[in-house]
Amino acid sequence: MTVKFFSLTIIVFATIVCASSSSLTEEKVENVYGPSITDGNCTSTPANELVYTDHIEKRFIPFYERSETSIYYGDKIIYCIKVKNLRTSNVGHAKIIGGGVEHPFARIYTESARSHGMDFKIYIYAK
Ligand SMILES: *[C@@H]1O[C@H](CO)[C@@H](O)[C@H](O)[C@H]1NC(C)=O
Repeated sequence: MTVKFFSLTIIVFATIVCASSSSLTEEKVENVYGPSITDGNCTSTPANELVYTDHIEKRFIPFYERSETSIYYGDKIIYCIKVKNLRTSNVGHAKIIGGGVEHPFARIYTESARSHGMDFKIYIYAK
């Protein structure tokens, strides 16, 4: 009876530890996907460290999701990526699908909501 109780306690405890550590990991990568993205340390972004900008704008096509992948390759290490969604409703989403912060390159996928257009601005800072 006591042994059963203890093993149950251990299982419950282990489950809690696993669940909380996996949610921590999710928090870390949370900002590489969303309607807008701010990834890395963007507290100080001097203009001379802005290495790439892109404006991705596509008109809607009924029943379709529009998409595009913006690709940057450089020789400095990226420390901040901002993807600003300029739409206010049916905003779609952006996702960093390769490289990114701490890499010299980034691949950023953007997708509109179905039957809607998209309008994203991308800023990459590296040094
Ligand atoms: C972010 O960058 C600023 C300026 O470069 C620096 O002072 C700060 O310590 C950095 N913060 C973190 C969490 O790395």
